[in-house]
Amino acid sequence: MNVTFKKNRLYLTEPDGFDFTYSALWLREMSDNPAFRDPQTGHKIADADELPLDLEINNLKIIDRHIEITFSDLHQSTYSIDNLREYTEEPTSKELIGSKEYWDSNLDPLPWHDLTEIKNNPEQLLAALNDLSKLGFALIRNVPSEMDGMREFTDLLGPIRTTNNGIIEDIKALPPGDVYDLSMTARALEPHTDNPFRWPQPGYVLLHCLSNTTEGGESGMTDGFRAAYELKKQSPELFDVLCTVPINWKYSDEQAILEDSSTFIELNRNQEVSHVRFHGRSDRVSITDPDKLDLFYKARREFKKLIQSDELEVRFKLKEGDMFIVDNYRIIHRRTAFKPETGKRHMRQAYIDRDVISSRQKVLARDTNVQAWQAR
Ligand SMILES: [Fe+2]
Repeated sequence: MNVTFKKNRLYLTEPDGFDFTYSALWLREMSDNPAFRDPQTGHKIADADELPLDLEINNLKIIDRHIEITFSDLHQSTYSIDNLREYTEEPTSKELIGSKEYWDSNLDPLPWHDLTEIKNNPEQLLAALNDLSKLGFALIRNVPSEMDGMREFTDLLGPIRTTNNGIIEDIKALPPGDVYDLSMTARALEPHTDNPFRWPQPGYVLLHCLSNTTEGGESGMTDGFRAAYELKKQSPELFDVLCTVPINWKYSDEQAILEDSSTFIELNRNQEVSHVRFHGRSDRVSITDPDKLDLFYKARREFKKLIQSDELEVRFKLKEGDMFIVDNYRIIHRRTAFKPETGKRHMRQAYIDRDVISSRQKVLARDTNVQAWQAR
């Protein structure tokens, strides 16, 4: 390794070819000297925007794979060379740990986990969250089939999101006057992500089965990232129109008006698919050039064909005590129709925000002796 400096630059090269030039101000601002940064929260305790803009490096000392730097404002801080390299390789933070694996209907085995084991072992909870990160969903068995039984799982993660519909909602066929969502009927539910008309859209959907003995009522799930990838392979033009035409998602009743505008497919700054929305009941396409709309309607149809194709969709039936948790920005789920007169079907549903899941996964990965979650 070779470390040198000149004025406001630090030059680091390594035998494997790594070669990077660091700004002195950036290094100064990244200092974890407790006089500048709180060791507990990682937050700066001074205003970095007031540091001298002509700041330079005065001196440095190498200790093993660490560099101790003295700056021209006499501040001193030590930097791990491995960390300095990591910052250049992954300059922005990731929502979840681990890489994503796009899947199709051949996914086998399905990512089942057992709540009894999860409750006894934080590593099992981490394994379920790692599946959620990698595949976009996890299936949990042995959840108590009581009204709020899912809390035995969610209490290990963090708070459930409260919406205008409450905390944990019933999903069962109701008399027509009580229905405020199509999920409360016996009809099939076409492929969808939940509630794109909310902002933020619910991050994760949990569906807990109390009973499912009716004929029908099977679940289907598709990896929306995979479907988007296939659409792009088929036609970059169709993919592009789903990334650009804004949709006005809307829901209203006597006590709520919920609306948001966004696209079917959203890309992150690396141009990777980061958010997929699909909700054929609430999408109102914003008006634009008719030629573009012709293309959009074709793209939507092709996208739906892919989503419910035998090649991409996994199908299964939840039974009493089963539950799924899905990444609502990635997985498109659906349900087949059921016949209420042939048995009983009662599901309970809740939402969890995205930061709750990412925080829990990171804390479980960092700490070996994880404390139970509780609100401050
Ligand atoms: Fe749903």
